[in-house]
Amino acid sequence: MTLIDGKATATAIKAEIAEEVQRIVAAGGKRPHLAAVLVGHDGGSETYVKNKVIACEQCGFTSTLIRYEADVTEEELLRKVDELNRNDDIDGFIVQLPLPRHISEQRVIEAIDYRKDVDGFHPINVGRMSIGLPCYISATPNGILELLRRYHIETSGKKCVVLGRSNIVGKPMATLMMQKRQPGDATVTVCHSHSANLKEECRQADIIIAAIGTPHFVTADMVKPGAVIIDVGTTRVPDATRKSGYRLCGDVDFDNVAPLCSFITPVPGGVGPMTICSLMKNTLSAGKKEFYS
Ligand code: GUN
Repeated sequence: MTLIDGKATATAIKAEIAEEVQRIVAAGGKRPHLAAVLVGHDGGSETYVKNKVIACEQCGFTSTLIRYEADVTEEELLRKVDELNRNDDIDGFIVQLPLPRHISEQRVIEAIDYRKDVDGFHPINVGRMSIGLPCYISATPNGILELLRRYHIETSGKKCVVLGRSNIVGKPMATLMMQKRQPGDATVTVCHSHSANLKEECRQADIIIAAIGTPHFVTADMVKPGAVIIDVGTTRVPDATRKSGYRLCGDVDFDNVAPLCSFITPVPGGVGPMTICSLMKNTLSAGKKEFYS
């Protein structure tokens, strides 16, 4: 069994990005600039955004954090999105999700200029991704592809089960794994809360990508010996022994599943660090106007 080290891979990629940024700036080019909009004080979102700002520093990017209280109106938020769209100094920006219930996430996502949508959530980027055109790809699926690539994991012709059908992970992941390219070329099955025979589908999988949000959902009896297991779960479970009062729990029963696998990602330290790293790659692409001018 090989443990896939997302933390070390992300560190290596951020160093590669920082080198490229140095070269760009030394040649008189512009330092990439990412802005993040954070609404309210959700613990998870605070941590994610803080880590995104730290990653920007590590990559040599400029970053701007824009904060609003949870009672900000949708109109005010949309005005800020419009301002960021027009600001030539900002190469890309994100609005951290989830948003308070009185704000339509979809309206906000669609208000973002797709050329600055480094989250890859805008329908134009989602559509372009699904037909294999250059675009911003959402960070978690792209981070997983990068891990598969760097660990030389064969996906062509393999049976891949994606657990979960969210717009952010499950759907784009399934789309990417079936693309006619490497990593990809897999036979993909998407299972979700209403799937019949879910366990049986998993048992037949060469690759399981678990993004269902239920701690320890994938148990040893669902895993074929030699399978590749990618765990996207990051549920916070109370843990009095930790300073934070919680620990992160994956979707996979790691202790019992790991001995069966050829490759497996741990939680934490697997997919999580790669997600932020993918956002950094998208920001570099935005700075270079790689996909859109
Ligand atoms: N909330 C959870 N994941 C993400 C992400 O990748 N981007 C944004 N903007 N919000 C999130």
